[in-house]
Amino acid sequence: MTDSATPARDATQTRDASRVLIFDTTLRDGEQSPGATMSHAEKLEIAQMLDEMGVDIIEAGFPIASEGDFAAVSEIAKQAQTAVICGLARAQLPDIDRCWEAVRHARRPRIHTFIGTSPLHRAIPNLDMDQMAERIHQTVSHARNLCDNVQWSPMDATRTEHDYLCRVVEIAIKAGATTINIPDTVGYTAPRESAELIRMLLERVPGADEIIFATHCHNDLGMATANSLAAVVAGARQIECTINGLGERAGNTALEEVVMALKVRHDIMPFTTGIDTRKIMGLSRRVAQVSGFPVQFNKAIVGKNAFLHESGIHQDGVLKNVETFEIMRPADIGLNEANIAMGKHSGRAALRAKLADLGYELGDNQLKDVFVRFKALADRKKEVHDDDLIALMQDSMANTDTDYLQVRKLRVVCGGGEPAMATLTMVVGDAERTETRQGDGPVDAAFNAVDAMFDHHATLQLYQVHAVTEGTDAQATVSVRLEEDGRIATGQSADTDTILASVKAYTGALNRLKVRREKTAPDSDAKQVSMYSH
Ligand code: KIV
Ligand code: ZN
Repeated sequence: MTDSATPARDATQTRDASRVLIFDTTLRDGEQSPGATMSHAEKLEIAQMLDEMGVDIIEAGFPIASEGDFAAVSEIAKQAQTAVICGLARAQLPDIDRCWEAVRHARRPRIHTFIGTSPLHRAIPNLDMDQMAERIHQTVSHARNLCDNVQWSPMDATRTEHDYLCRVVEIAIKAGATTINIPDTVGYTAPRESAELIRMLLERVPGADEIIFATHCHNDLGMATANSLAAVVAGARQIECTINGLGERAGNTALEEVVMALKVRHDIMPFTTGIDTRKIMGLSRRVAQVSGFPVQFNKAIVGKNAFLHESGIHQDGVLKNVETFEIMRPADIGLNEANIAMGKHSGRAALRAKLADLGYELGDNQLKDVFVRFKALADRKKEVHDDDLIALMQDSMANTDTDYLQVRKLRVVCGGGEPAMATLTMVVGDAERTETRQGDGPVDAAFNAVDAMFDHHATLQLYQVHAVTEGTDAQATVSVRLEEDGRIATGQSADTDTILASVKAYTGALNRLKVRREKTAPDSDAKQVSMYSH
């Protein structure tokens, strides 16, 4: 084997020893989570938000996986202003070529190629250690001939024999990799071990000081954030993470957690990132909405309760001095502290200003529509809080009057030991129809009425209801996830009428499935290749 290239650097290959690069893989590893599929338009929107937030590298997808992935990575590459745009490729030349075809449009492209190096993963392509080493040299050299920014990952690195890991990392560096990522693919490592692995590689591998080491942790044992930070303290300078920790199984390292930990505990971890932390909350909400994975209430940083002080002792302390119980300010992550309620007398200008505060800049037409919905809500609820407005905005973005199915009127009769009965009027294409159906409770009856008017064979994978605020007049946010022929779609809606919100969430998911069925690409979810077939 010969050295095919010397490592080159772009702006992300920083020499500032205290700068930690944030590599976001919400659109690749996050989206790989069963059911978290996003549409083409949603991927573009999330990528733009990540770019604006200051993420250094966006892993936009796995171009060979499907036409949809390829189209999304190409478009994101074209639209990105600042971030490096990266695509994933297995250790195969056609994968790498396809990846390059998609990312080459970016101002700053990166190819990320990987192969499983642990004994269990080596057995899958049935390569012995020498054959795999040869494959790594060949594929990394090939990627480097196409692109001067190449990342290589030994998948399942934390369960790979140390001597072999050092050997293959050295080969990848010599072949031209500029970033070496050390994945804890199955969330198996612990903080001390994570740090020791990075230290060992820095000490033992020739050329290690010329490249950036990245850490990529999964959260199976709940240690992803701690493991990532330990790796940084030991010398890694890139953290791979996702918004809300989205990802397969227990997810990936959460971007908001590592970024805020580095900010709040700068005293013991003197590193900086390029993230504008005030944009965290907006991204968290949008990713939760488009992925259909709501954020748990007690989730660190972005959970609904993360800054709530219910207990008397805590409230008293916070009122006297916020630092008694708050280690960071809500505004640091873009949470509006004032939370001044609006009511039915609030005008259009006040609504526009409040929505801008919450991160929604509306054009005149959109404001007109949202104002009508706001007035209707304010008629039903005495006070309209920030969370109500966010739910209302999310609802109006998710369900529009150009949708194929549009709910017009719902009447439900239930209770008294009789089966529930729902009479639903709905626009189906260009005809208005009404059906009455029974069910096991009002939601079931209303969904049966939808099914009577719209033929499909989707199965319900998730039905979830959350109260947006306190009180029995609270809006309910309903999330629905459906599966049909391997395609997955989510729907969400919010209303003070829980049954109505449920039906709108259900029809929203059906609308999205219909769109996907009709144009397989670029909205296709169906991944045609396996990550493991090397
Ligand atoms: O977890 C993992 O090993 C991965 C690789 C593809 C980097 O996501
Ligand atoms: Zn991963």
